[in-house]
Amino acid sequence: MLSLTNKRILLGITGGIAAYKCAELTRLLIKAGAEVRVGMTRAATEFITPLTMQALSGQRVHLDLLDSDAEAAMGHIELARWADLVLIAPATADFIARITLGQADDILSTMVLATSAKIAIAPAMNQAMWADDSTMTNLNVLIDRGYNIFGPAEGEQACGDVGPGRMMEPAQLLELSASLFETGELAGKNFVITGGPTQEAIDPVRFISNHSSGKMAYALAAEAVAAGAKVTLISGPVNLPTPESVKRIDVITAAQMLVATHEAMKGCDVFIGVAAVADYRPVEVATQKIKKSEEQMQLTLVKNPDIISEIAQLEEKPFVVGFAAETNDIVSNGKDKLKRKGLDMLFANNATETFNSDSIVVTALTETSETELKPGNKNVVARNMLQLIAAALNER
Ligand code: CTP
Repeated sequence: MLSLTNKRILLGITGGIAAYKCAELTRLLIKAGAEVRVGMTRAATEFITPLTMQALSGQRVHLDLLDSDAEAAMGHIELARWADLVLIAPATADFIARITLGQADDILSTMVLATSAKIAIAPAMNQAMWADDSTMTNLNVLIDRGYNIFGPAEGEQACGDVGPGRMMEPAQLLELSASLFETGELAGKNFVITGGPTQEAIDPVRFISNHSSGKMAYALAAEAVAAGAKVTLISGPVNLPTPESVKRIDVITAAQMLVATHEAMKGCDVFIGVAAVADYRPVEVATQKIKKSEEQMQLTLVKNPDIISEIAQLEEKPFVVGFAAETNDIVSNGKDKLKRKGLDMLFANNATETFNSDSIVVTALTETSETELKPGNKNVVARNMLQLIAAALNER
């Protein structure tokens, strides 16, 4: 079965008769595991109702650029960042012309301009409009920009003409959308990823921990699998479902994470330390709940093992990738950390912006390079990170 598990698809519907096929398309995308949100031009609402699309996607449909209610729920820029794929189906000749010019005069064209996700267009129009020089020229510009053009199909048209210009069938659009995520560039590689926080017990009911959500590690695990890798995810306590085909090992403390990581090292090609490991743990864990007594109390802490440094020192070490969540001097602190821990690559990001958030801004550092990744949701950024890792592995 075609898989779009974890993929977030923003389906943009413009005003053509093929819009009615978007009901089936949405159903198929969701069945393949995608989360679908729908944006429509006003003209599209003449062909299929927003209510239908809302019922099928389970989400409010986005119709206007300046809709204060919709913007309060998820603004158009947020929506553009949320998406892994913006699929415009059907795309009219007029819409294609507007996005070629870079216009942002409605919700859909604005999102096309604002997104860093993949963009796919399924043209649908009269065969003469399709064959016209203007449309062809526009299409070529979009292809040069890296847009994916799905179709059009040939055949009998709603206007009675016969020729190219029909929107592809929903099943074909599903197949082509899924194929956009099959990179396979990590085929045969073994990844071990740590993620989430660790919890260090103080007594049976209290612990020291941090705000890490685990989202980045889980996004990397899902995307690495999608790119063909075998992934073991060693996870601190988080509230996230295990991505498909990922082997997940649950741990609580840094000490447990260290043991699990060493055990997973056999045959490991790439180790990514995303976990926000607690730097210290209480020297002693009280066996009974500590009672309140004095105005002040002291807790003596001892340093936890540095998991990633240990892995980087192994004789048969994998390609080691770290994360540095910093609050200040992000790049220079990151470079220090890369050296100090003996890492091959480090992704430095702003801790105050990223813990628990869906969107992330990152700089990739190696001994000799500094690359700023395009900001976007954690899945898009994870994919870009994996591309850098794959390129570095190829150079080795
Ligand atoms: N890390 C680890 N084990 C630890 C601490 C950190 O494996 N005990 C890893 C993290 O998973 C991450 C990298 O080291 O990949 C950097 O984490 P960070 O907390 O920024 O590093 P620290 O050494 O704790 O540095 P700082 O003094 O800035 O807290």
